[in-house]
Amino acid sequence: ISLKSYNTFGIDAKAKHFVSVDSVEDLKTIFSSEEFPQKFILGGGSNMLLTKDIDALVIHLNLKGKKIISQTKTEVLIESQAGENWHEFVLWTLEKDFGGLENLSLIPGNVGTSPIQNIGAYGVELKDTFHSCDALNLETLEIETFTNEACKFDYRNSIFKQHAKGKYIILSVVFNLSIGKHHLHTNYGIITSELENMNIDQPTIQDVSKAVIAIRESKLPNPKEIGNSGSFFKNPVISKEEFLKFQENFPDAPNYIVSETEIKVPAGWLIEQAGFKGKTFGNYGVHKKQALVLVNYGGATGKEILELSKLIQDTVARIFGIHIEAEVNII
Ligand code: EPU
Repeated sequence: ISLKSYNTFGIDAKAKHFVSVDSVEDLKTIFSSEEFPQKFILGGGSNMLLTKDIDALVIHLNLKGKKIISQTKTEVLIESQAGENWHEFVLWTLEKDFGGLENLSLIPGNVGTSPIQNIGAYGVELKDTFHSCDALNLETLEIETFTNEACKFDYRNSIFKQHAKGKYIILSVVFNLSIGKHHLHTNYGIITSELENMNIDQPTIQDVSKAVIAIRESKLPNPKEIGNSGSFFKNPVISKEEFLKFQENFPDAPNYIVSETEIKVPAGWLIEQAGFKGKTFGNYGVHKKQALVLVNYGGATGKEILELSKLIQDTVARIFGIHIEAEVNII
């Protein structure tokens, strides 16, 4: 079957076999069977570029359900199954007036894949409210619980991208959210100005979510209209020495201090300066409003987009001496 509607890039790659799974029991049965030795797990399909057909059993994780586990006057623990759509889940928490996920509104993908790359936006990361997750160990078929600490979260990184990669399937995630008195994260410049535009000076978590949605809609392409996977590259983190050399030649480059020894430079700026912003090559290219996003206008192949990403990497390295790494999983 075609995986076109199962990946937000809209790449028409084919799966040799396909199954959609809605219970942990079925998942265990599939993994204990020898029938399909090659297996490929598919969540929301929002962070991958398919460059070829998948010669395996593609397992679409469709575990659904969300519930309150426990609640005090100031905090609530809520659990969501892996197959819930991330943004719908965020809206559900906001309807209940639970705080903490508002800055992460409108991020594509599913709840179950959100910890893998520690999704983040506008000054907030998943790790700020992540309590724990349950994951199926594919070797033992036992369910293991990972605490926040055990996940080793970092910028767009976690244990699930490192040594636990490919060894687990995240089944459900528990979040620790606030009730009543919320701690807002509105000091990210663009959020402050959007709230001002909206004439709001005492924002609620719902207002922050609306501001985030407005900003994202103005910059990032809607995958339902234009195929994409959000930021294709990570923002490179370079050493202070490297940065100082770079800054001599490019004094206007925006930058953020990560630690005493490391500086982050926005890849979107590097790619724009390299002349790629808004460039189209037939039916694919670089998004017009955000150079960090590669887009499929319809019918492009994963190989074509991969080639473009390599051209961008090479050009950025040649001009700036900085290597930018893909954030998207290349399959
Ligand atoms: N910039 C440019 N040209 C561009 C894009 C950006 O010059 O085409 C400059 C901007 O002017 C700004 C800086 O780069 O000075 C940062 O831009 P922006 O605030 O738009 O954020 P970003 O660093 O490009 C990151 C995340 C996004 C997240 C936003 C907002 C990564 C790889 N990307 O982008 O995450 O929404 O911050 O917090 O960290 C995603 O991961 O899919 C994603 C969209």
